Amino acid sequence: MKLAITGSTGLVGKKITAELKAAGHQVVKLVRKVSNSENEFSWNPDTDKIDAKAFEGVDAVIHLAGESIASKRWSSEQKMKIKQSRVKGTKLIASTLAAMDNPPRVLVSASAIGFYGDRGAELLTEESTTGEGFLAAVCREWEDATRDAESKGLRVVHARLGVVLSKEGGALKMMLPPFLMGAGGPLGDGKQYMSWIDLDDAAKAFIYLATEANTSGAVNLVAPNPETNANFTKTLAKVIHRPAFFPVPTFGVKALFGEMGEELLLSSNRVSANKLVNSGFKFTYPDLESALKHELN
Ligand SMILES: NC(=O)c1ccc[n+]([C@@H]2O[C@H](COP(=O)([O-])OP(=O)(O)OC[C@H]3O[C@@H](n4cnc5c(N)ncnc54)[C@H](OP(=O)(O)O)[C@@H]3O)[C@@H](O)[C@H]2O)c1
Repeated sequence: MKLAITGSTGLVGKKITAELKAAGHQVVKLVRKVSNSENEFSWNPDTDKIDAKAFEGVDAVIHLAGESIASKRWSSEQKMKIKQSRVKGTKLIASTLAAMDNPPRVLVSASAIGFYGDRGAELLTEESTTGEGFLAAVCREWEDATRDAESKGLRVVHARLGVVLSKEGGALKMMLPPFLMGAGGPLGDGKQYMSWIDLDDAAKAFIYLATEANTSGAVNLVAPNPETNANFTKTLAKVIHRPAFFPVPTFGVKALFGEMGEELLLSSNRVSANKLVNSGFKFTYPDLESALKHELN
C-alpha cells in the first residue's frame, strides 16, 4: 500500500515509518522542512501551505504532527502553539483530502487520552464523556478538525494515545535518570492511573488501524493493563534493579512543572483497550513488566 505520514520525525512517526517500509509499503512523508527526496513533500500548517500531490495514489494517511506537549512549561504562548499546531494542521489535512477527486480511503489522526481529563479509577471507554482542563479541550478541537474528511466519506480514526513507553523519548526517557541514580519514587499520592502503551505496539496499532481494521471514530491506543503510578514506579524500579524510595509530593510536582505537571503527571486516566482488542488487534507487550523489560534491558 501507499501511505502518507505527518510528524514522521517524531518518536512515534519514526517507528511507524520504519515498520511500514520493513513491511514493503510505500511511504510519503509530509515534512515542515524543505523536501529533499521524491517521497517527501513540504507543508506548513502555520501558513496553510500544502501540496495536494502528496496524497495522489495514497491509500491511507497517518497524521501525527503537533507541537511537543511536554518539552516546555505551559506558558499561554506555548499552550496556543500546542493547540493551534494540532487544530490548524488537522483542518488543513482534512480539507485537502476532502477537495480531492480520488482521496485516500482512510485518515488515522492522532489524539490523546487527555481527552478524558482527570477521572480517578473510573474505567474510560471511547463512549465516556470528555473531561476538564487544557488537554481535554485541545483533544476535542483536534478531533473535531477532521470533520471535512468524514463528510467526504473517508474512514476516519481518532487514535487516542496513552503514555508511549520508549527509552528513545517521551515520558519514560524523562523519568529514567532519577530512577537510574536510585532517587526515583511515586509522584503525588501514587494513586493516579497511568494508561501506557509500548512504542512498538503504538506503531503497530497505527498501522493496523490504517491498513487492516474496519473500525472508525475514537479508538484508545493503550495497553489492556493500566497501572497506578505507585505500581508503575515499583515495576520500573524492579526492572532496572534500583530502589524507588523517594516520592515527589504533589506540591513538588506542581512547583517543578506547573499546570503541565498537574495534567500529565498527577491526572488519573484508567483507559480501556477493549475497542482496539475487539477489533482484532494483538498486543506484543500487554503487561507493564514485559514492556519495560523490552524497552530497557
Ligand atoms: N508520545 C506520547 O506519549 C503521546 C501520548 C499521547 C499523544 N501523543 C500524540 O501523538 C503524536 C505523535 O507523538 P510523538 O511522541 O511522536 O510526538 P513528537 O515526538 O513530539 O513528534 C511530533 C512531530 O510533529 C511535528 N511538529 C513538531 N512541532 C510542530 C508544530 N509546531 N507544528 C506542526 N508540526 C510539528 C514534528 O515533525 P516534522 O518536524 O517532521 O514536521 C515532530 O516530529 C503527537 O501529536 C502527540 O501529541 C503522543
